[in-house]
Amino acid sequence: MGFPFIDLAAQYRDIKQEIDAGQGAVFASGCFIMGEEVEALEAEIAAYSGVREGVGVDSGTRALELIYRALGIGSGDEVITTPFTFFATVSAILSVGAVPVFADIDPATLNISAESIANTITPRTRAICAVHLFGLMADMPQILDAAQGIPVIEDACQAIGASIMGKRAGAWGRAAALSFFPTKNLGGAGDGGMVLTNDRDLADHVRILRNHGARIPGRHEMLGATARLDALQAAVLRVKLPHLEEWNTRRAANAARYTRVFAGNFALQESPAGFISTRHQYTLRAKQRETLLARLKSADIPCAIYYPIAAHLQEACRHLGIQEGAYPEAERAAHEVFSLPVCPYLAPENQARVIDVISSGRIE
Ligand SMILES: Cc1ncc(COP(=O)(O)O)c(C=O)c1O
Repeated sequence: MGFPFIDLAAQYRDIKQEIDAGQGAVFASGCFIMGEEVEALEAEIAAYSGVREGVGVDSGTRALELIYRALGIGSGDEVITTPFTFFATVSAILSVGAVPVFADIDPATLNISAESIANTITPRTRAICAVHLFGLMADMPQILDAAQGIPVIEDACQAIGASIMGKRAGAWGRAAALSFFPTKNLGGAGDGGMVLTNDRDLADHVRILRNHGARIPGRHEMLGATARLDALQAAVLRVKLPHLEEWNTRRAANAARYTRVFAGNFALQESPAGFISTRHQYTLRAKQRETLLARLKSADIPCAIYYPIAAHLQEACRHLGIQEGAYPEAERAAHEVFSLPVCPYLAPENQARVIDVISSGRIE
């Protein structure tokens, strides 16, 4: 029998009373836009991540976009990022009129390589966006060195709670974006996101941008947008945040069970010493990926490919004129990766089935 890749219904059953009470409190208050729930969540997530400021917005993509706008990045400016990411990383750069410039990945970690960043900086580089893919942080110490003072933005949309030497995602760069898309380790009941930063001015700028450019009602200082995090989402996320560490521990245990069996047979995403991944995805690489996927499908086991096409080869980037072969490591990863169910509510008997099916037969 089949089972879900991510079991959000099981999660709801587990915390139903708390979620329902949180939602009920928002309805009872009649305060759906901004207010106490949003402010409390901002403070709680900023404290959890080890930064001063959190600004709730309506998605992770918007968080990135508003960071660029607050930094004055726009038409013709270059932003260096990875070609192996969810496309939102790139669309946020394009949406402010800037040019995404790609730097290839380190095949061991699947994250942007500091060395390729150093070779990609030009006088027009205005920011570097490091994506922490699948819950594993990009090598921030090396990236900050390579950046030579250019602002580094963390796309931490998949990595709340991840860390390097105990310092969490979001606390390393000039600013960071979180996503609360429902399937994230900390997911809402719809779209949501947050900007994290230690820079008070940048945080204030984002607060104004998310609310139609108005600091004071009726006075619009700049062009903004309806880009706020809803109070109902904040209430759901406040209920879930205290559970996040336990859920991440369960993800880590599931991942360790896979790794004990698969290490040596597959290339896996490698965590360098001192890096703690939150295992947003458990990702393997296989040259014969399609054979394995067919085997999983016929056994009714869910799996997913994140990401099948490198960003520079997406239709939406065609105008950049980048040819196949430009970023060989990202392209090779896109052909080889596949992700297995790792969520905290994965039943042990289902994980055992996944392991059996992957392990049966020859693996190339
Ligand atoms: C790496 C990465 N960047 C950006 C985003 C965008 O977040 P959202 O879907 O909340 O806009 C996501 C979320 O899916 C993501 O995984």
